[in-house]
Amino acid sequence: MIFYFTGTGNSLAVAKQLALEGEALIDMAKARNSGQFTYVRQKKERVGFVFPVYCGTLPTVVYDFVQSLDLQGKGYTFAVVTCGGDRSSCAGLLADELKKHGIPLHYAETVPMPNNAITVMQTCTPEQERSQLEKGAEMLSEVRRALAEKRIRPVRSSRMARMMLTLYRKCAVTRLFFTEDSCTGCGLCARNCPEQAIRMKEGRPVWVKPHCSHCSGCINRCPAKAIQFGKKTAARRRYVHPDLLRK
Ligand SMILES: Cc1cc2nc3c(=O)[nH]c(=O)nc-3n(C[C@H](O)[C@H](O)[C@H](O)COP(=O)(O)O)c2cc1C
Ligand code: SF4
Ligand code: SF4
Repeated sequence: MIFYFTGTGNSLAVAKQLALEGEALIDMAKARNSGQFTYVRQKKERVGFVFPVYCGTLPTVVYDFVQSLDLQGKGYTFAVVTCGGDRSSCAGLLADELKKHGIPLHYAETVPMPNNAITVMQTCTPEQERSQLEKGAEMLSEVRRALAEKRIRPVRSSRMARMMLTLYRKCAVTRLFFTEDSCTGCGLCARNCPEQAIRMKEGRPVWVKPHCSHCSGCINRCPAKAIQFGKKTAARRRYVHPDLLRK
């Protein structure tokens, strides 16, 4: 089984490309929100975690999910972290958290994908999007080989990722989100928010929690490009993985 988390589709696309025939793909946000934390490995089946790195650390959803995870049975465990550019990883922090539950992380790799960090910086240009998708595809072929061999690569503990977790969670505020008049009231942002932080009120989204994962899904995926975060995002390109756009 593969546990995944995604804001704009990169990590879901990677999880799908890594999945074996019939292997379950489990959305960590939905699982956490519905309190589904108990899973049993069938016949030593492999378990994977696929998710993006945020500010050098684990997304809130992933961290929270792993805190409550009750994974029964033994077997090979891997993580694939998608990143927007610098191949920064946070797998060490995941390894530390899994260890507390008696789950060794046998292998982790970081896969470059287009950068979606619109609240923080410029996202990828169309050229960067193409080249990152190509680089990611190359890296994924290697990852697939490694997973088929059940390759072991020790994942070192990451104090930096733990420090960044505190900072990222503090900074991931929602008060700077707002919508422009182009909002059509379609409700997509509220339906897809992994933190259930958006509610529709009188046909417009309202952010009802002070903090969220800052997955950038609402702002990048809004079909009307009506969502902004502070003053800088109006000029930034929206990015969504091509597979999500085709939906
Ligand atoms: C809030 C935020 C912080 C990010 N921080 C990093 C980072 O520290 N390093 C990096 O390489 N990419 C960073 N990214 C880019 C994402 O990790 C990357 O685009 C990822 O593939 C997005 O995956 P998704 O489409 O599954 O959500 C960040 C993205 C967001 C939204
Ligand atoms: S996705 Fe965009 S258009 Fe639809 S309700 Fe949200 S802000 Fe409005
Ligand atoms: S409010 Fe937007 S950025 Fe925050 S978790 Fe929800 S969809 Fe992601």
